[in-house]
Amino acid sequence: MSDQTSDQKKVKLWDFPVRLFHWALVIAIVTSWWTNRELMIDIHAIAGYSVLTLVLFRIIWGFVGSSNAKFKAFLTGPKKVIGYALKIPNGSMAELTYPGHNPAGGWMVAVLLVLVGVQAVTGLFASEDTFLFFDGPLVAYVSSDFASTMNWIHHTNINLIYAAVGLHVFAALFYLVVKRENLIGAMVTGARKVPADLVSRFAEIRFASPILGIGILVMCGLLVWGGVTLARG
Ligand code: HEM
Repeated sequence: MSDQTSDQKKVKLWDFPVRLFHWALVIAIVTSWWTNRELMIDIHAIAGYSVLTLVLFRIIWGFVGSSNAKFKAFLTGPKKVIGYALKIPNGSMAELTYPGHNPAGGWMVAVLLVLVGVQAVTGLFASEDTFLFFDGPLVAYVSSDFASTMNWIHHTNINLIYAAVGLHVFAALFYLVVKRENLIGAMVTGARKVPADLVSRFAEIRFASPILGIGILVMCGLLVWGGVTLARG
């Protein structure tokens, strides 16, 4: 699309709402980890509501967002995923370059979204009644059995998140160091360099309006904030 350097061209890949979502999610997850460690439960809850807002937004954006942000663009069948995974060690640029998430990365994204979504939702029902004395906003509306199951999931699922995030960051660094593909930079700036003969693949991306994305994000934030305020009475 622009910025030609020898046989490489810079192409636009990720829209602004996807990038905002990604780095806001990283900040929210790190904040919830840190505030849990430091027993800052009120900020921990706010970080959790932020994760919930972001996941809600990303689910909607997965249907109405840019073409490569849509779930149907990156959630493919097992044949494609296995075929792609087998090509990772020795595949050519043409075989490994996708104008969005590759088939294996796409499922990693889905797993991350489900795990962080489960963490945020179960947090709404979680309690700490030994020294912080904190109840999630929906605890009062469910039986104590249900709440303690949610509490258990909240404390167990976090280990799956650590494992999935570890694998995710390892994959991003693997592409950077071994494959010399800067996917991390692309998630920051929205653009990446690809061989000139692959540019046409990226020209097919249809970008949705960033204003629409921000509008949906604000709406999700209001929904979560309103819901929590209402539940707290
Ligand atoms: C709390 C930690 C993290 C979580 C929960 C997380 C989650 C996600 C999610 C859900 C996506 C999909 C984005 C979308 O389509 O909307 C994604 C993509 C991506 N993330 Fe992360 N991420 C985390 C940390 C990181 C870090 C630290 C890096 C950099 C080292 C990173 C690099 C990337 C890259 C490069 C992509 C795009 C992958 C591709 O090109 O297919 N992530 N991440």
